[in-house]
Amino acid sequence: MTAAGPGSVAALPSPRNDDSMAALATPLYIVSAHINDPSSAPVPVGARRPVRSFVLRQGRLSPAQQRALDELLPRYGLAFANAPLDWRRVFGRTAPVVLEIGFGMGETTAAIAASRPDVNFLGVEVFMAGVGALLKRIDEQQLANVRVIHHDAVELLRDMIPPDSLAGVHVYFPDPWQKKRHHKRRLIAQPFVGRLASHIAPGGYLHCATDWEDYAVQMLEVLSNEPQLANSCAGYAPGGSNPIAQRPTTKFHARGERLGHGVWDLVFLRR
Ligand SMILES: C[S@@+](CC[C@H](N)C(=O)[O-])C[C@H]1O[C@@H](n2cnc3c(N)ncnc32)[C@H](O)[C@@H]1O
Repeated sequence: MTAAGPGSVAALPSPRNDDSMAALATPLYIVSAHINDPSSAPVPVGARRPVRSFVLRQGRLSPAQQRALDELLPRYGLAFANAPLDWRRVFGRTAPVVLEIGFGMGETTAAIAASRPDVNFLGVEVFMAGVGALLKRIDEQQLANVRVIHHDAVELLRDMIPPDSLAGVHVYFPDPWQKKRHHKRRLIAQPFVGRLASHIAPGGYLHCATDWEDYAVQMLEVLSNEPQLANSCAGYAPGGSNPIAQRPTTKFHARGERLGHGVWDLVFLRR
């Protein structure tokens, strides 16, 4: 398939086993074949560059990841724009939408999406090789319920996610920024958590996980103090008994276990 040029419109792939979805499928949002570089925006003279939760890794793309970006981003990708998303147009059907922030290589995203075909998933990631890897999985597994955006989640929420519209948010093993002077880069902190909560629909959930104990303590404190959220558990969420807290083992979860770390899950509900 030839990659569409910037500003072109791509048709949605038809879902494999869902006629109702196929019937609803409409052209996807305008997507561009070029990748947004979330860190490339010019900073006005005199203004400070915002503190970001990531540093872009320069890793090389494998040929398969590059091919996936060229060919599949126009089909499954959303372009960043300063306009709220219309979920029905994005997915071609009306269904609950779950946002995953920082999906890494996307293995967990694909596994969860395959096991919950009745839910729409939007993954946001700044790591280009990870975006390519998830696109490849979407195509190989014919996952009609996943869309991807290569951008900073903070800006995505600010500019594109309608308020009160998400059924759930997954933030699995966000970068821990271990050094104290880097703690300001941690994602699960205010004011981001307040904004994130305001985009979850009442009754929807926020599921976070980390293998860094002091980040787990910070998460519990920040989320407990956020007035829009209520803890679904007393403290951390035991995976076995809480259906929302159940998730596949992610790459960084496995890495944490190899390093002898503990793992902490937190599930909060939007009031
Ligand atoms: C430690 S990795 C975890 C990946 C995956 N969730 C897992 O558990 O294996 C954190 C990921 O979050 C991404 N990330 C960090 N800040 C982000 C942001 N503001 N927007 C989108 N992605 C972000 C990083 O690029 C990285 O891939």
